[in-house]
Amino acid sequence: MKIYSLYNIKGGVGKTTTAVNLAYLSASTGARSMIWDLDPQGGTSYYLCVKPKVKGGAKGLIRQKPQFDNLLKMTGYPNLDLLPADISYRNMDHYLHQEIKPNSGLHRILHPLRNRYDNIFLDCPPGLTTLTENVFKISDVLLVPLIPTPLSLRAYNRLIQFLVKRRTKKLQVIPFFNMVNASKPIHRIVTKNVHEKHPIFLRSTIPESTIIEAMGIKRSPVFTYARESTEAGKFQDLWKEINKREKTIRSKKKK
Ligand SMILES: Nc1ncnc2c1ncn2[C@@H]1O[C@H](COP(=O)(O)OP(=O)(O)O)[C@@H](O)[C@H]1O
Ligand SMILES: [Mg+2]
Repeated sequence: MKIYSLYNIKGGVGKTTTAVNLAYLSASTGARSMIWDLDPQGGTSYYLCVKPKVKGGAKGLIRQKPQFDNLLKMTGYPNLDLLPADISYRNMDHYLHQEIKPNSGLHRILHPLRNRYDNIFLDCPPGLTTLTENVFKISDVLLVPLIPTPLSLRAYNRLIQFLVKRRTKKLQVIPFFNMVNASKPIHRIVTKNVHEKHPIFLRSTIPESTIIEAMGIKRSPVFTYARESTEAGKFQDLWKEINKREKTIRSKKKK
């Protein structure tokens, strides 16, 4: 089981949009995939047309043994399940704090699913909280979408400093740009220069696009209503590059 988390301290940068499209792509290749909506706003649950209701709420999930057969929802897409979010998730931090090991709550919840799924995608809420510390601890890959501006890069640098202090060595951080608008000089400059200082940034980027924005109306991944679009191709390229990056890192570790 591999855990990919869509994370940024900021909101509105494309975490949910990317999580839904990458989870769809993962599932479409036959990998048993699950997406966990961790945000009380329930964006992923909305995009996948699943009722945002969690039996027992966040409290039940953290304090009791989760009854996954009741909690997991089918999305209607082959190989893709969803663990939805409801408004009780706003108290997730409170319940995690009351645990003996506050940073291990998510690990305990997901552990029983390790043989059920190949890929799990965590759609994280913005912020830097106990919940996110849990996410950093259990994730294999932290996918960080950023809008290409100097301020976003500053926030990204801060995140890396934080992670270095936390010694989250196992965690592979993969940043990439979303909502790229080539007609904006600042976007052109930032995307062009980023690799000099940050070679870790993916070459693939996701454009700012009304086709992607339309997910809010269609309530489904881009592939379902614009399969042949440039945008669908961009998400495919992104997923391919993520997989390639992981393979490179794995083979380096073996040497
Ligand atoms: N590449 C894109 N082009 C245009 N709009 C986008 C793009 N990615 C996301 N959006 C829109 O931006 C808003 C925030 O995206 P979302 O994925 O919910 O961000 P986050 O989860 O980081 O808060 C949504 O209205 C979404 O439709
Ligand atoms: Mg979101």
